[in-house]
Amino acid sequence: MDALLDQSMLQCPAPAKLNLFLHVTGRRADGYHLLQTAFQLIDHGDTLDIVRREDGLIHRTNEIAGVPEDSDLIVRAARLLKAHTASPYGAELTLHKILPMGGGLGGGSSDAATTLIALNRLWQCGLRRQELMNLGLQLGADVPFFLFGRNAFAEGVGEVLQEITTPDCWYLVIEPGVQVPTPAIFSSKELTRDTKTFRITDFSGSADKHLRNDLQAVACTLFPEVAEVIDWLSKFGNAKMTGSGACVFCDFADEISADEVLKQVPDRWISWKARALSQHPMAHLVQA
Ligand code: C5P
Repeated sequence: MDALLDQSMLQCPAPAKLNLFLHVTGRRADGYHLLQTAFQLIDHGDTLDIVRREDGLIHRTNEIAGVPEDSDLIVRAARLLKAHTASPYGAELTLHKILPMGGGLGGGSSDAATTLIALNRLWQCGLRRQELMNLGLQLGADVPFFLFGRNAFAEGVGEVLQEITTPDCWYLVIEPGVQVPTPAIFSSKELTRDTKTFRITDFSGSADKHLRNDLQAVACTLFPEVAEVIDWLSKFGNAKMTGSGACVFCDFADEISADEVLKQVPDRWISWKARALSQHPMAHLVQA
């Protein structure tokens, strides 16, 4: 018998992701963009305390600046799972947020995925991975990846996923101090699309120099703060924006090299290092 089934509370990590590259290849009739990207999990992220309630109520226990409870993806994820499974249970959700909003690190999506994984267990719903991914997609294009739980080459709007092997390296991440609204980047007239599709076999697994993020030029035009960070970090390696921004990262073969550069980051920017993860720390709780 699984010890977890006796538990009514879980402390859960919600790791961030980096997009090692991101190509925009088309646009769907509903306005969503078709992409090709490589998602990399890193060991830096939010954490959630999730407690099962017997009375069916769903609450977030803490205030998150700028995110009212009803629109928080963790609350919406819990409500969605409850509606889908008709579970009699509820949940108390406490979110310890360290990932910036509008950072391109997938924080909100990861929080939502973690909520689905944890409540699927605590409520004993028994949904399998693909069913959780289908639910997650209703909450955002990046949510299925966090439920997939392994580094992935993604297509579609980000929901068609194939596992990839990526190097065990370190990343330095810099927050440029601006929040980038994803819809503003995707709706920009400056956004170019490259319909030449890329094959997964062309991808070496690392954040190759020749692979770009198609959203980067638009974000740099709208938010010069992002361009400033890319210029600075480019002195040390292959600096690139993640997702629709704002965060910028660079890969390093080892922790010492990442630390060397971290020490030099100007005080006006928040920066940190993170190690590549090979899988989501909660992946073992999701049944294939
Ligand atoms: O799915 P998510 O909530 O993260 O997307 C936010 C917005 O970003 C969407 O409403 C859409 O305008 C844009 N988007 C897009 N194509 C994607 C992902 C997001 O156009 N693949």
